[in-house]
Amino acid sequence: MTERPFHLGWFLQGSSVQAWGEPWTGTIGQDWRHPDLFIDMARALERACFDYVLIEDSSYVGEAYGGSREIYLRDGLSVPRQDPSVVATLLLAATKRIGIAVTLATFTHHPYLLARIMASLDQMSGGRAGWNMVTGSSDMAARNLGLEAQPEHDLRYDMADEYMACANALWDSWEPGAIVADPESGVLVDHTKVRTVDFKGRWYASRGPLNSGPCVQGRPVIAQAGGSPRGRQFAATHGETIVANPKGIAAMKAYRDDVRARAAAVGRDPDSIKVLFLVNPIIGETAEHAELRRRERLLHADRRITQRLAHFSKVTNIDFASFDLDQPIDEGLRTNGHQQNLDTLKRMGAGGRTLRQAFSDYGATGLSVELCGTVDAIAGRMAEAMQEVGGDGFLFSMGDVSRRTVAEVADGLVPALQARGLTRRGYSHATFRENLLAF
Ligand SMILES: Cc1cc2nc3c(=O)[nH]c(=O)nc-3n(C[C@H](O)[C@H](O)[C@H](O)COP(=O)(O)O)c2cc1C
Repeated sequence: MTERPFHLGWFLQGSSVQAWGEPWTGTIGQDWRHPDLFIDMARALERACFDYVLIEDSSYVGEAYGGSREIYLRDGLSVPRQDPSVVATLLLAATKRIGIAVTLATFTHHPYLLARIMASLDQMSGGRAGWNMVTGSSDMAARNLGLEAQPEHDLRYDMADEYMACANALWDSWEPGAIVADPESGVLVDHTKVRTVDFKGRWYASRGPLNSGPCVQGRPVIAQAGGSPRGRQFAATHGETIVANPKGIAAMKAYRDDVRARAAAVGRDPDSIKVLFLVNPIIGETAEHAELRRRERLLHADRRITQRLAHFSKVTNIDFASFDLDQPIDEGLRTNGHQQNLDTLKRMGAGGRTLRQAFSDYGATGLSVELCGTVDAIAGRMAEAMQEVGGDGFLFSMGDVSRRTVAEVADGLVPALQARGLTRRGYSHATFRENLLAF
């Protein structure tokens, strides 16, 4: 195979209890406190030569559905959930080559604290830390931090631009060569190479320099997921790996072309950005087995429509318990939360389709590209999709995971991809960014 290989990432649905009540989860009800599942996962994905694991996050207990915490707590929907930077530390300690991207929101951490946490992770891992840069979208989360609400959607991105400038200035406050560590002269750090930053913006200020010392990579790898036009502009300006969920080849290509054009317009090399598209393949030992599993997944999704709607309520701040499932979707619905998700649902409900129908399709259409079959069939489909879209890879978003889910991908699908020369068989570099930019 002569074409360029593509990149692989894994979207871990929070450092939360995973798949409570599902089969193949062992004794997750007790085990969720310990990081073993995540460590096993990171090691398996490193064996499969993934670029990175992205740990999703939010910092509140859901309450939007029916105005109650009950369903979220009873069914373990994104709660209990531990701090992702703590879990990232353990994953980095348990691995040697894979990148770990941790989600930290701009409203939860001052840029100084964020820059320090990320620099610490990058140092301890020898340059394998990434930051999934999110603005946050939940008023519930804002209230946990003593704020009243989130700023309006586009304003959040304006603030985030300034946040990035501040964090970048702090990472740059240690010039290359600042650490001398010369036993003869006795100098550890050349003080002339460590600068005050004196950043003063409209929303953020920091004096600096950063006391953690510099990142190994200069800065962590920046992951981003802007879906709206303003979000894409932000992602194209700052992101190095962009995770996206447009549905279908045409939408995937349009998204990637748009991000690349925006990047070029702000003076960046579009090839320095890797867009990874969400997939959740249904893998079977035969085509028939995969088809059976696909049907089972649809039934399962319908059985869990309440839990799925509760999750959707959480990310959009809309109480879906207040709507009749068998009535058309209210086209006037608006959110200051995840706009792209709501827009997709509304599209699926167009023409008077009911909430149940639209939501059933929302869950059924798969993610960016539908993948169902044997590992060979799926590997072939992934290759075709990449050829049609132009690049750059896939982010596995398997929902709540068990060790079985991880093994199906790491030990089932990835060897089939590698056999076709579609994904790497080894890491050529030591750091996350170098591996991401290697092809
Ligand atoms: C793969 C993926 C992962 C995301 N992870 C998080 C996350 O961990 N925390 C969060 O608050 N938002 C997360 N988001 C939401 C995005 O930050 C963003 O708000 C969303 O894609 C909608 O884009 P928009 O804000 O430009 O409309 C994620 C989105 C995607 C597609």
